[in-house]
Amino acid sequence: MEVPSIVVRRVSSADVAAFRQLRLRALREDPQAFASTEEREAAEPPSVWRQRVDRAASGDDAFIALAEADGAPVGMAGGRIRDAGSREAGLWGMWVDPAWRSRGVGRLLVRAVEDWAVRAGAETLTLWVVRSNASALALYRASGFVPAGATQPLPSDPSLLEVQLSKRL
Ligand SMILES: CC(C)(COP(=O)(O)OP(=O)(O)OC[C@H]1O[C@@H](n2cnc3c(N)ncnc32)[C@H](O)[C@@H]1OP(=O)(O)O)[C@@H](O)C(=O)NCCC(=O)NCCS
Repeated sequence: MEVPSIVVRRVSSADVAAFRQLRLRALREDPQAFASTEEREAAEPPSVWRQRVDRAASGDDAFIALAEADGAPVGMAGGRIRDAGSREAGLWGMWVDPAWRSRGVGRLLVRAVEDWAVRAGAETLTLWVVRSNASALALYRASGFVPAGATQPLPSDPSLLEVQLSKRL
């Protein structure tokens, strides 16, 4: 039996449909992990998805990494520079298809966002993670993130608390 190889690459403007499908699946299957909701993003018009992908494909302030197994999308993670000229980048939208978890895909996605953030001039990478999300916390700790001190309710479910983590790049 052949083991499919994982490729992690920057999204391209040809990936709008694949990215939309993957992102909506992440929001549907793991709603407690994300600040956004499937309902909200499924209602966004095609032009918004196109803009989002085009910006992440070639913009200086946004990035999306796709993980593919034999060409099929199995994971994603996003990066953004929040304020122009800022040395702080944010990581968002980390998700791996359950069939592909615990094989190092999440780690590769974190690395891809870090590499992009360095190229974009960031010195720090920050993210928010729900305090009870053990696998994500383990991934980020293993990748060198430490608590930044801030907490906030998860916008999509204020009964859950998010903690902020950061990493010096
Ligand atoms: C969190 C998530 C992205 C991890 O992806 P993954 O591909 O399974 O992670 P990896 O295989 O790269 O794991 C890397 C490290 O993280 C830790 N880790 C990941 N999942 C873990 C788990 N379930 N239990 C314990 N440690 C875990 C381990 O230290 C692991 O390193 P090791 O395999 O050398 O021990 C995935 O579980 C997921 O998509 N969860 C739902 C969405 C989500 O929570 N996103 C985060 C939003 S902030």
